[in-house]
Amino acid sequence: ITTYPWLLALPKVELHIHLEGMLEPELMLSLARKNGIQLPFNTIGQLYEAYRFNQLQDFLDIYYQGAQVLITQQDFYDLTWHYLKKCQQQNIVHAEPFFDPQTHTARGIPFGDVIEGISAALTDAREKHGITSHLIMCFLRHLSEIDAFNTLEQAKPFLDCLTAVGLDSSEKGHPPEKFSRVFNQAKTLGLLTVAHAGEEGPALNIWSAINTLGVSRIDHGVTAIDDTKLIDYLVGTQLPLTVCPLSNVKLAIFPEMSKHCILNLLEKGVCVTVNSDDPAYFGGYLTENFYALSQSLNLTQTQAHKMLVNAIQASFANDNRKQAML
Ligand code: HPA
Ligand code: ZN
Repeated sequence: ITTYPWLLALPKVELHIHLEGMLEPELMLSLARKNGIQLPFNTIGQLYEAYRFNQLQDFLDIYYQGAQVLITQQDFYDLTWHYLKKCQQQNIVHAEPFFDPQTHTARGIPFGDVIEGISAALTDAREKHGITSHLIMCFLRHLSEIDAFNTLEQAKPFLDCLTAVGLDSSEKGHPPEKFSRVFNQAKTLGLLTVAHAGEEGPALNIWSAINTLGVSRIDHGVTAIDDTKLIDYLVGTQLPLTVCPLSNVKLAIFPEMSKHCILNLLEKGVCVTVNSDDPAYFGGYLTENFYALSQSLNLTQTQAHKMLVNAIQASFANDNRKQAML
């Protein structure tokens, strides 16, 4: 990164980042000790050993195990604050993080502790460092529609803390349309919608997220490259994709970074953005994702700049804030 100071210096916006995916090994092990949680890993070395994934599900299994060390409201605050410190270091001026409440409420953690811990850190970062943010609550798609409805119900007292709902976890076997009714209800509550689609699943899932969930953005969406009609649609509407290069390579969506399609999509005119997804697990935060593109795909400064402008346009920031960032 030292050889690419312009990457670090650019003001950046991040639209696809899971709070539970920022649980660094050190923090995971120290929270496990503090909270008396037994993990199948005892050392940082064992954790890194486990972080060799062949597919999305390998990652998800470990990601959900790791998240069990989060117990108190302060734990959620600290986790969020860890990311916001990274934002400062990397010159990320606006972020729209996801959280997965069901991972925690299923273990008996009160919904309010999760969202209040996260929101307090986001508020502090806004007041102390001028980092703006919008929080997105994701439903776990491997769980039932009823479970998602119950989660939305629990969110009702906290709608002020939320901008949108999203959809994550195992894409195979759990297409977007499974959640069309709960997304409709979220919209009636004034929430925007996004969804993971076209990561491991086919372009058809991207169409379904657009047509049955009414999403404002697609998270990942890289399999759009297989469907020329969809590419035309994405170019015509400028519906954004939040692409996560290091994540895609770690989860073997692409065999290596030099085979990643992000710059092809960009050159076709799709509104693509660069994001880190789960940086503690995939080996890099936002700057490192840009850096990987510059190393393997000869990302130019013009292309990097275009994708950052895309991220500002694609964000849920209001027009004044967008203007200030442009
Ligand atoms: N895909 C699906 N679910 C997730 C991801 C992802 O990349 N990261 C965290 N949960
Ligand atoms: Zn993701």
